[in-house]
Amino acid sequence: MKANELFATEQKRINQFLQNQLDQLSDTDSTLKKAVAYSLLSGGKRVRPLLVYATAQACDVPEAQADHLACAIEMIHAYSLIHDDLPCMDDDDLRRGRPTCHIAFDEATAILAGDALQAMAFEVLAATPAPAVHVVNMIQIMAKACGLMGMAGGQSLDLEAENQAVTLPHLQTIHRAKTGALLTACVDMVTALVADVDASEALHQFAQHFGMAFQIVDDVLDVTANTETLGKPAGSDQGLNKSTYPKLMGLDGAQNAAKAHIDACMALLKESGLETEALERLTQFTLMRVN
Ligand code: IPE
Ligand code: IPE
Ligand code: MG
Ligand code: MG
Ligand code: MG
Repeated sequence: MKANELFATEQKRINQFLQNQLDQLSDTDSTLKKAVAYSLLSGGKRVRPLLVYATAQACDVPEAQADHLACAIEMIHAYSLIHDDLPCMDDDDLRRGRPTCHIAFDEATAILAGDALQAMAFEVLAATPAPAVHVVNMIQIMAKACGLMGMAGGQSLDLEAENQAVTLPHLQTIHRAKTGALLTACVDMVTALVADVDASEALHQFAQHFGMAFQIVDDVLDVTANTETLGKPAGSDQGLNKSTYPKLMGLDGAQNAAKAHIDACMALLKESGLETEALERLTQFTLMRVN
């Protein structure tokens, strides 16, 4: 199942918002801006913005607020992918069906494009049209999700786990940090804009399971899909002897683990009365996706 068939409206909305953010920059044609635009507007699935919009809809958060969260998290994600592909990290040359940022430009530009995107994300988040106390909360949530205990910390653990035999709890820690943290921030930032504490906890747990399923499926697709469909090099994890779910428990084990996390997501939505069509569709998509 392709994301652009299922989520065309929301993808169009976020793509337009991202484009507008770049258009507002006065620096019109520097190399760095071209590299940022190249990586940000290159047609990813936009799963994190989709999760923001679906959660915002379930929590009655206005789209005009959600736009800022969706844009900010996608900028962080784009930065994480640019750095993830660098020769000193996963050393991949293809992303979203095109040469990776450091191939299309150069390594220094790719590093700086990531840096710039990270800073821009916080600028956009700080401009969310919401009460200042909520905006400060969101900035804190995002900063935590990006940092030592979140994405960056997880990426470091991921690199250290190459050529290692890790335990399942350790692999869970890696996946929760490198991928789960940003996906969890998507819902935590939305619930920081509303008051209902019960829904916040259920959604937080939902997103943690969603994040685990998302990375496990990514690990599975590295083994089962081809490069053309993936838009990134198939077999990259195997080539680097990464610690992944299929390596630890085989393909079937990994697929079952992903399914268990998705089942937990669905149960949490049901229990908490948040079983909206948008959240359920996105949850199911995570298991069915082909890239
Ligand atoms: C890829 O993320 C990296 C992971 C965290 C698994 P996505 O699968 O969301 O990549 P795009 O944004 O659609 O290209
Ligand atoms: C990346 O995980 C997670 C990030 C924080 C970017 P992967 O290294 O598995 O992502 P892909 O497969 O290159 O997209
Ligand atoms: Mg990686
Ligand atoms: Mg990678
Ligand atoms: Mg991967």
